[in-house]
Amino acid sequence: MANRNSKNKKEPQTRHGYIDAVIGLQWGDEGKGKNIDQFLSSGEYSAVARFHGGANAGHTLKYQDKTFIGHMVPSGCFRKGIDLYIGNGVVVDAISLATEIAQLNKFGFDVKKRLYISERAKLVSYMHPVLDKADEARRDNSKSGLKIGTTARGIGPVYSDARARRGLLVGDVLLPDFAKKESDLTKFHMNMLKMYESKYGFKVDLAKIKDSRAKWLKAVRELTKLKICNLSALVQKKLSEGENILAEGAQAVMLDIDFGDYPNVTSSNTLPANIPLGLGVSHQYLRNIYGVLKAYTTKVGGGSFPSRIKEENLEKLFQKAGQEFGATTGRPRMCGWLDLFALRYAITLSGANRIFINKADICISEKIKVVTGYKKGKKILKEFPLYLSEVTDVVTEDLPGWGSSNYGVNDKKKVSKELVSYLKYIKSKLADLNVKIISVGTGPDRKHSFNWDK
Ligand code: IMP
Repeated sequence: MANRNSKNKKEPQTRHGYIDAVIGLQWGDEGKGKNIDQFLSSGEYSAVARFHGGANAGHTLKYQDKTFIGHMVPSGCFRKGIDLYIGNGVVVDAISLATEIAQLNKFGFDVKKRLYISERAKLVSYMHPVLDKADEARRDNSKSGLKIGTTARGIGPVYSDARARRGLLVGDVLLPDFAKKESDLTKFHMNMLKMYESKYGFKVDLAKIKDSRAKWLKAVRELTKLKICNLSALVQKKLSEGENILAEGAQAVMLDIDFGDYPNVTSSNTLPANIPLGLGVSHQYLRNIYGVLKAYTTKVGGGSFPSRIKEENLEKLFQKAGQEFGATTGRPRMCGWLDLFALRYAITLSGANRIFINKADICISEKIKVVTGYKKGKKILKEFPLYLSEVTDVVTEDLPGWGSSNYGVNDKKKVSKELVSYLKYIKSKLADLNVKIISVGTGPDRKHSFNWDK
């Protein structure tokens, strides 16, 4: 990895800095926060930038004996020299943001000084979570539709408002007509709620909405005290001065609005192609895409999950051993075998050239399976299907498991032979994609990992 201050003459000298990205290659919850934290210790990056999503994301970060679950504040909050950017592609939940800033303050980290928010980011209002729940109730009641199983953070409604050009921007909170804009939008939202009430039987709790409004207005006042700026210009300036930025992906490729299993996706583009747009810079700054996966697969929410472990007890054991409960909602995550067919799709779309495999210490059964293909009836699919519900079965291969023998291993030489063959197997299956397995995680701590490919 090239250090931005490197004096090594052999390295190509660039006049400007670059953006590397860390993104999820499965259905989210791959443990990206831990990898980002490891990356930041290299001193290569001056800032971490969120470019999409909102408080639906949840990353669990450990600092000494403290655990912090971040939704809005970018990973990197525990690294004092690192600036934290929230780009225009993000939807800002003012309540979450204020809560996290206060919590980090208690831990001795005053992130306000190094947190910069794009004035063009979209503002989540107190009505968006209500509309999110109302639409989920509509899906649940309708004959054809099924719930998406959203995080209920208002993500779909706030991105819908942004696309329909009636939403609020973070920069609006500093303008004199904010109250008018907010009241116009709320009137529109109340009409929508009336429709959900009359047509779909959704129960509107006005007292609760009033209470949420008061909390939200307080958080918006806190927001006005933060560094709301032209983040695109700031990022461009930093890059032109030779600084490097790490873009932090939320969710993962399989939840991308365009290329995930629509409609069981989130409402933003999670793919790195969205980084230039979500930060306001040219795509020419993009360099390495680091993709993160787990040694197995998990998914929360609705929709098909082809590699899901069929034996209920075994799935529960994976859930327990891997602590597979949502950081945002606490929901148990479905557990599945490593899905190489989906992974290949995700790597191809994202251009990930270096991968991290997390939770390789979690392996419950003596024999494990790997999904290598999808079937539709008797046909083996050559391409990723439009809808995952078309998949009737999967093609699998069996490999030996390794139990808990690799927990905490941080030396390549001490890795069990079964895990070595698993990693070699993955590498051989992805050989044509030219990816490197950079590091393998064997536990929650920073030191619980070993390097694999040079
Ligand atoms: P939304 O983003 O809250 O609208 O949820 C849409 C879908 O994305 C649901 O299936 C959620 O469970 C899923 N989702 C959203 N954020 C995350 C995440 O951070 N990890 C895993 N799944 C997520």
